[in-house]
Amino acid sequence: MSSASVLDAALEVSISSMNQEMPLIGILRELEAEALVEIRTASDADSLEAIRISYLGRKEGRISQILRRLGEIEESGRRPVGAEANRVKVTLRQALESRVAYFDLDRQSELSSEDDLTLPGRQRWIGAAHPVNQIVDEIWQIFRSMGFVRTRGPEADTEWYNFVALNTPLDHPAADEQDTLYLKDSVLLRSHTSPVQVRTMEKYEPPIRILAPGMVYRRDTYDATHTPAFAQIEGLVIDEGVTFVDFKATLAEFARRFWGPGTKVRFRPSFFPFTEPSAEVDVKRSLTLKDGERVESDWIEIMGAGMVDPNVLENVGYDAERYTGFAFGMGPARIALLKYGVPDLRLFFQNDVRFLSQFVLGPDR
Ligand code: PHE
Repeated sequence: MSSASVLDAALEVSISSMNQEMPLIGILRELEAEALVEIRTASDADSLEAIRISYLGRKEGRISQILRRLGEIEESGRRPVGAEANRVKVTLRQALESRVAYFDLDRQSELSSEDDLTLPGRQRWIGAAHPVNQIVDEIWQIFRSMGFVRTRGPEADTEWYNFVALNTPLDHPAADEQDTLYLKDSVLLRSHTSPVQVRTMEKYEPPIRILAPGMVYRRDTYDATHTPAFAQIEGLVIDEGVTFVDFKATLAEFARRFWGPGTKVRFRPSFFPFTEPSAEVDVKRSLTLKDGERVESDWIEIMGAGMVDPNVLENVGYDAERYTGFAFGMGPARIALLKYGVPDLRLFFQNDVRFLSQFVLGPDR
């Protein structure tokens, strides 16, 4: 039974058997509510006209029908029912009018033959990856194609993972240099992503080929070239028979894929407690100027790296006679700075859309 026929049945009952004004007023209000819903959901002007006739039509309209039977109820009750019926009529008329006006408006906005349907739509700013995260993704894509898997470790870690297992005694100057924020006792905010090396080797047997991006923290001033929180990307390769040649070839291949095929790569001797030998990897970019002239950049340092120290392998329970490998760590914000010629690291932290939107790729640029 539809709600309309329920109401009609109720109307019969109240008029014929009860002869009282109160149920009629209730029925009028229900009719009103029902009509308002129909008006609100009508899909065009024609259905509005049909609604108008069905409720307000002079002969067959449902409100007129109620009024026509006023004579059947006691005189004292007629006046309030009549008044209520008039109020409902006014309300419905107003609702119909404003809905009709809405459809008229809609018609006015219909396309004319002069509208150019081939015009591109208006572009919206839909957001984009932060430039530093874009660099992380680019680097990840290169290593992924070389068979690395992506992993990560906790930003709050222990002295064991951050220093000791990495062959860095707590009184070693390298631990000092990276002195970081202690949370409590031996728990600290990691000062590099190298603890992920240890955590991975503790959990898995070789072969290992991982790339582990994440935030690190240091007691550094906030200036053009330092920030106390920054991203790093750690890489680790461990297997039987991994040599210095694999180390150099892998990182040189990465550098040329990232910086361009004409890039020169240099391994400069360095020191890290957890690698032996250690190197700092520099690149010299080959650039083509607007007039076609080729120029080379200065040497720029892009990462720290080295062959994993056997002490580290032993700390995680690996057989250092059987396994060898290499590790590397780089700072994607520094790389973004060099790649885009950004003068100040702090620009990456200020979240100024005028700056950030320059790095948006694709049609929104
Ligand atoms: N963890 C070193 C740093 O933060 C970088 C590094 C990683 C060096 C892996 C060698 C091997 O400076």
